[in-house]
Amino acid sequence: MTRVLVTGVRGKTGVPLAQALMARPGVDVLGGSSDPRTVTLEGVQPTALSWDNESTWATATGGVDAVYVVRPDRADAPELIDALLTGLAAETRVVLLSERNADSLGPHSWAARTEQVVRSSGRPWTILRPSWFMQVLTDERFYLGPVVEEGELAFSSGGASVAWIDARDIAAVAERALLDDGHEGQVYELTGPESLTLPKVADQLSAAVGRRVTLRETTIAETLEGLSGFERDLTMWTFERVHAGDFAPVTDTVEHVTGRPAQSLESFLTDSAAQLKRG
Ligand SMILES: NC(=O)c1ccc[n+]([C@@H]2O[C@H](COP(=O)([O-])OP(=O)(O)OC[C@H]3O[C@@H](n4cnc5c(N)ncnc54)[C@H](OP(=O)(O)O)[C@@H]3O)[C@@H](O)[C@H]2O)c1
Repeated sequence: MTRVLVTGVRGKTGVPLAQALMARPGVDVLGGSSDPRTVTLEGVQPTALSWDNESTWATATGGVDAVYVVRPDRADAPELIDALLTGLAAETRVVLLSERNADSLGPHSWAARTEQVVRSSGRPWTILRPSWFMQVLTDERFYLGPVVEEGELAFSSGGASVAWIDARDIAAVAERALLDDGHEGQVYELTGPESLTLPKVADQLSAAVGRRVTLRETTIAETLEGLSGFERDLTMWTFERVHAGDFAPVTDTVEHVTGRPAQSLESFLTDSAAQLKRG
């Protein structure tokens, strides 16, 4: 049996990744969570793994052949990931969920340093650099409520396009990198099949919700309101990169790795129509 630890197993990529891994024969999936009682995916072994509690790490990673690391969005992510990987057997595969063009802010930026600890871990590694997840649009913590209840998509794009990606496509790439040969030392820039301006996204949301969704283009300052500390910094860096067009270019990496084209936003929204209409 191949044992794979999926950190963040309840998250946007963690759920489809665990499902994809479970569908492969001879794979045991350990589902990492800060609260393993909430891991209810059938066949997945709930596994305590909290970035706040280092004492959970040795048990979670013991005897695993591969680990999917969902980068924790906190200032000490490089140090935390470095410490987690140090405890792994030398041959354990590591797949890091990073972000699109993670080194665009320079080699000493937080995102680049987080990747660097994986590259220098001495373990076989693959880095995934996805664009914005389509699932953000159906996440009640972000857009789902306002989109459905107020008919408004508030976003700060500065007029730039975003090449949205379906988290299920990220999971499909992660599954290959965790289990198959040929992905070691690869940095995969992952996007969906097209780059869309925000008015176009609002049009597609309108069709899926069944009523008009209006785009409200916000400033970065508005986006930062109420945020503080590292969360504020990370949000600012991210939206500055959106405005600079960092998330616009389309890649064909999903198709190259999985053998099938990446999902379009339109098909994702069609799949999500019932959820969007319920709100
Ligand atoms: N969302 C996007 O559009 C996007 C785009 C590019 C890159 N990314 C990157 O992808 C990563 C995931 O982001 P996301 O927003 O999609 O989040 P997510 O994977 O949907 O959720 C985050 C996960 O972190 C886990 N978690 C929370 N607190 C934890 C703790 N103390 N210890 C261990 N695990 C903990 C949560 O699970 P439990 O509550 O079960 O612990 C949850 O599964 C981030 O690094 C983000 O920057 C996101």
